[in-house]
Amino acid sequence: MNTNRKLGVLISGRGSNLQAIIDAIADRKLNAELSVVISNVPDAAGLARAKKAGVETVVLDHRDKSAFATREDYDRELARQLKARGVRLVCLAGFMRLLTQTFLGEFPEAVVNIHPSLLPAFPGTNAQYQAWEHGVRWTGATVHLVTAELDGGPIVLQETVPVKNGDDVDTLAARILEREHHLYPMAIQMLLNGGWRIDGRRFLTS
Ligand code: GRF
Repeated sequence: MNTNRKLGVLISGRGSNLQAIIDAIADRKLNAELSVVISNVPDAAGLARAKKAGVETVVLDHRDKSAFATREDYDRELARQLKARGVRLVCLAGFMRLLTQTFLGEFPEAVVNIHPSLLPAFPGTNAQYQAWEHGVRWTGATVHLVTAELDGGPIVLQETVPVKNGDDVDTLAARILEREHHLYPMAIQMLLNGGWRIDGRRFLTS
C-alpha cells in the first residue's frame, strides 16, 4: 500500500476547487497532505487561499520566456518542483495549460483534473456555456485522469446537474461548481486509497 498522500495542486485563477480541497483536508473528509500549490499566473486569486491555509506556493510564469523557452522547458520545471516535494498526485484545479508528455511521463496515472460538464460532452473551455447553449436538460461535473488528449482521460467520477427553466449560464455554472466542490475531494480520496486500475479508457475499482 502506498502511504504517500502528498498532493500538488495546479491553478491559474480563482481557486475555489483548491479551497474545497483545503477545507476537505481540514474537516478530515480527505486524508491527504497538500504539499504545494503552483500557479502559472502570478496574481491568481487562489494563491492567497493557499497562503491563508499555510500551504507553500510557487509561481511558474509561463510567459517568462527567459526561463522557459519551450513548453517542454516549462513542463520539466513544473515536474521538478512537484518531485522535489515528493508529490504523489497532481490535481489540476482550473489550471489553464495543456500538459505535454514530458510532464505526464513523470506522473503516470497520477494527474487528475475536474471539468464542468459530463464528459465526453462539451470538452474544452466554457463547458457550462456550451451545455447551456446546446439546451441539454442535464449536465454535470467530471473528474478524470489526465492524458495528452484534451479532457479525454479515463473518468474517475461524475455527478449530474439539472438545467432548470430560467437558468442563465451563470446560475447553471454556480450549480455545477457547487457539485464540483463535493466531487473533487471525493475523487482524490478514491485515487489515494488505491484499489483501482486503468483498462483502456476505463477506470476500474475492485
Ligand atoms: C472549474 O469550473 C473547473 O471545473 C475548471 O475550471 C474551473 C476552475 O475554478 N477546470 P476554480 O479556480 O477552482 O474556482
